Amino acid sequence: GQVDVVIVGSCMTDLVSQVQRLPKVGETIHGHKFFIGFGGKGANQCVQAARMGAKTAMVCKLGNDFFGDKYVQNFKDHGISTDYVEQTAEAVTGAASIIVNDAGENAIVIVAGANLLLGNEEIQRAKPAVSQAKVLVCQLEISPDASLKALHMAKESYVRTIFNPAPAIADLHSDFYKASDVFCCNESEAELLTGQTVATVEDAGKVGVELLGRGCGSVIITLGAQGCVVITAQGSSPKHVPTSKVTAVDTTGAGDSFIGALAFYIAHYPTMPLEEMARRANLVAAVSVQTEGTQSSYPCKKDLPSALF
Ligand code: RIB
Ligand code: NA
Repeated sequence: GQVDVVIVGSCMTDLVSQVQRLPKVGETIHGHKFFIGFGGKGANQCVQAARMGAKTAMVCKLGNDFFGDKYVQNFKDHGISTDYVEQTAEAVTGAASIIVNDAGENAIVIVAGANLLLGNEEIQRAKPAVSQAKVLVCQLEISPDASLKALHMAKESYVRTIFNPAPAIADLHSDFYKASDVFCCNESEAELLTGQTVATVEDAGKVGVELLGRGCGSVIITLGAQGCVVITAQGSSPKHVPTSKVTAVDTTGAGDSFIGALAFYIAHYPTMPLEEMARRANLVAAVSVQTEGTQSSYPCKKDLPSALF
């Protein structure tokens, strides 16, 4: 059947080590816990949208291996359509080595593997789902060409687009901005894209205005504990949207929780002001940082206050 939220993006197996502090170059240190989880920015966003109650489909490429098989089952367990989930023998399922310190901060290395084999043909096959969706979401853990093709396909069918330029590349093609109804990134990604420092809410507003000027419909810069800044129209001033104060255990994937929630709101409440969607998405992401892991920490509709729906 028809789906509301289509994600064209990545899947990774998250290999997570918890340590007191991040190691230095050449150093070996003891960690105190290790676990494996389902991750990857695309899949994370899809799972968060599904847990909030959105009808979702994932367009992605997995390896024809143990982790790939497990991942297909994970999507099915969430009621996510796997019509456009493919497995390949040509590469392994993507993996992310993640180190989380006692402050809940992280450092991540991704080996994208099969994700990079998601190409234009696969995107073309997904056209029935993309063209009938309410919102399409893309990131940068698959080939940028494939992401851009999906964004253009959505725009042609007047489907709203969220683009999350993560992980960021300094020379992002200008077409990405023009194809983004909502361009959503964090402070370090905004720094890489603009070459400007983002240390304060005011800085975030400034770079947000610059990014908006590159042709996006609107811009959101997420700021962790500071919430986010929303810029919706040329000439209007950036709006700071603060979030609730919580104790962070593991902030990995909090940005994906935010974007998954945002996709849900755009699909279900299309006329809600973006600032209000961002305020609510902030609160969903704040739940996720209080528990370890990425998807394993994302709240379901039943765990969230009814005021968020
Ligand atoms: O955004 C968090 C995600 O980034 C993790 O799940 C990891 O897989 C990396 O892709
Ligand atoms: Na978490």
